[in-house]
Amino acid sequence: MWNGGPAARLCDVADPLATVTELLAPVFAGLAGDEADPVVRPSDRADAQVNGALPLAKELGTNPRELAEQVVDSGVLQAVCSEVEIAGPGFVNLTFSSEFLAAELGKVAVDDRLGLVEAGTAKTVVVDYSAPNVAKEMHVGHLRSTVIGDALVRMLEFLGHRVIRENHIGDWGRPFGMLIEHLLDLGEDVAAEGIGQGDLDGFYKQANEKFRDSEEFQQRARERVVLLQSGDDDTLALWQRLVDMSNAYFNTVYRKLGVLLDDGDLAAESRYQPMMPETLARLEASGLMERSDGAMVVFPPGFTNRDNDPLPLIIQASTGGFNYATSDLTCVIDRVERLGADLMLYVIGAPQAQHLQMVFKVASMAGWLQPPAEAVHVAFGNVLGDDRKMLRSRSGEAVKLVDLLDEAVDRAAAAIAEKNPDLDGEARAEVARIVGIGAVKYADLSTDRIKDYVFDWNRMLSFDGNTAPYLQYAHARICSIFRRAEVDRTDLRRAEIVVGEPQERQLAQRLLAFPTALDDTMATYSPHKLCTYLFDLAQDFTSFYEHCPVVKAAEPVRSSRLELCDLTARTLDRGLGLLGIDAPQAM
Ligand code: ARG
Repeated sequence: MWNGGPAARLCDVADPLATVTELLAPVFAGLAGDEADPVVRPSDRADAQVNGALPLAKELGTNPRELAEQVVDSGVLQAVCSEVEIAGPGFVNLTFSSEFLAAELGKVAVDDRLGLVEAGTAKTVVVDYSAPNVAKEMHVGHLRSTVIGDALVRMLEFLGHRVIRENHIGDWGRPFGMLIEHLLDLGEDVAAEGIGQGDLDGFYKQANEKFRDSEEFQQRARERVVLLQSGDDDTLALWQRLVDMSNAYFNTVYRKLGVLLDDGDLAAESRYQPMMPETLARLEASGLMERSDGAMVVFPPGFTNRDNDPLPLIIQASTGGFNYATSDLTCVIDRVERLGADLMLYVIGAPQAQHLQMVFKVASMAGWLQPPAEAVHVAFGNVLGDDRKMLRSRSGEAVKLVDLLDEAVDRAAAAIAEKNPDLDGEARAEVARIVGIGAVKYADLSTDRIKDYVFDWNRMLSFDGNTAPYLQYAHARICSIFRRAEVDRTDLRRAEIVVGEPQERQLAQRLLAFPTALDDTMATYSPHKLCTYLFDLAQDFTSFYEHCPVVKAAEPVRSSRLELCDLTARTLDRGLGLLGIDAPQAM
């Protein structure tokens, strides 16, 4: 679990709701004789509502209204509220004082980080994400891992942690015998061309078919695996060619996606091969390992199969080869002992949950993974087609990621041409790229990662609703307000903010909640929470802009409102940026 928070310590700006919760915590503790949640929530009738008196009264068997009175009489709310009123059976309605809101907003306005200070204790965090397999197509599962991992990396870095990105590509194992033989049969240049164009699945499939149909090929493939494992130079050179071709292709996908990953982040399965005998020896010495059906295994307690038999984690197969689990265990040792990781995030699909839990368990039993160091499986669900089955292309094959991204940009270009025909060719192409890629990423990030989501072009590219285009458009619209008002945004940031209208108050509170939103997001590594916050912010801005004239307002209200516009745009820009999504100035 994340313990960089709570928000109050992450930021030096007071989120109104969080501030009230903090102020009331000792009051409620006094009344309850124990910790009790004041339950502070946004409200339609006032700025906020304290609901905690009701459940507490029930628990204590007292009158809720009397408890509410004691809460009010404590006097702690006066510091931030201009009105405090008991309503109904024992709710407390709060109106924040305009001075409080204005003072806090004033602090945010002059801060590039929008009120967010770095975490008190910087951690070393290893993020394991993307991890496609050599000579295999990247599928939408790899898209999810790449996009979610990239967002987490950006947020962790912004919070001041030392982040180590690791792309644990699958580049080792038995299939490489047949893949190398197929490479030789095809000729390196022909293979390079196919793979360079992203036809990895074609390559893999051909190799597989040959393996199935030809005994002679099978024989060669087996001999090749032995050569590879014994470190034969020529074989390693061929293997390296395959790895390089695949990586070059993965890099084109990463560049298209605009994620931070590059070659320096590669931490491939093969890298851990030389360290695996030591992992085996350490497990042997620990007494955890046993022989089962000829293989060397560990039975971590608590894991059973359908028949309730204990489930082994296979460390070394009966043939002597090491497994996926061995490489993950070795990885844990490397991350904790060499890299000094405090926290390891594994951004991997939900189907691998059991594998990871078994790896974590064995690593902790062996003493390699001990608190305060921790490992977390940041799991995610599937991407579905509109038939609610796994996303497939029209010909029934797995969808190629590049095709998907190219189509997103094409569709965005069409949507933008319609919305803003005045945008010239080059600018339009750039905006289409930003909007198209942003839409795909945001569709992925904005649903709770653990759930499946339906890949729906129309929804993700819509300018309405919780989508990237909606947020990007809100940002661009604010930029256009400044162009019309002819003010330099940086000149503005010291203007006095006055919050009068209800829509201004609502927007002010939302702006001040940005650090809390980020803190909530990191508490469960759930980017969708930041998305929801940004969507709420954009909606609050829309109703503010509908009700409160900005450019035509008289001073000092005009400057104050422009300041709210500026803060909204900066928060949208920063928030989208933390998700790995750009926000154009015009679109
Ligand atoms: N290459 C694997 C796959 O495509 C994912 C690897 C994830 N990382 C790890 N440390 N196991 O399924």
